[in-house]
Amino acid sequence: MKALVVGGGAVGCGAVAVPTVRFLIAPARGAGDGGRWIRAIRLDALPPGEPKRVAMIADHRDGWTLEKAVELGAVWLVRNGSDVLAWSVTCPHLGCAIGRSASAPGFYCPCHDSSFDPQGHRQTGPSPRDLDSLATRVEDGVVFVEFKRFQLGMPAKVSVG
Ligand code: FES
Repeated sequence: MKALVVGGGAVGCGAVAVPTVRFLIAPARGAGDGGRWIRAIRLDALPPGEPKRVAMIADHRDGWTLEKAVELGAVWLVRNGSDVLAWSVTCPHLGCAIGRSASAPGFYCPCHDSSFDPQGHRQTGPSPRDLDSLATRVEDGVVFVEFKRFQLGMPAKVSVG
């Protein structure tokens, strides 16, 4: 009986200790270079050479709360043969949403008139850098994107996770 009580106490302490430690180290894990691989779309749903905006949907844990299938953001995807290029839709200037340019091939931010060519290179406007590219991979005909966010308003592309 005594062993049962001690064992039960140890399990109880572990049940409290593990989430507590995770909570304490969470801010350190949140910053930095790490992205998150998210299933984006089937490769055959991407017309070759045609940019497509795709929502990044995944489960999201915030402390004790787990939300299922949350839209974490979005990306622009362009299929190039069997490869896929990806960029964040977040403007590197101040974070507005990047759209397709109506007057030229490429991308445009309406907030302060930054424009980017079809490869994501900065053309005009105050954006301090090119569009933020993201890693992709294709597995069994499905495109996955390593989704990340980046610091805004600076020339260097610095991931904030
Ligand atoms: S937020 Fe895009 S140009 Fe300013």
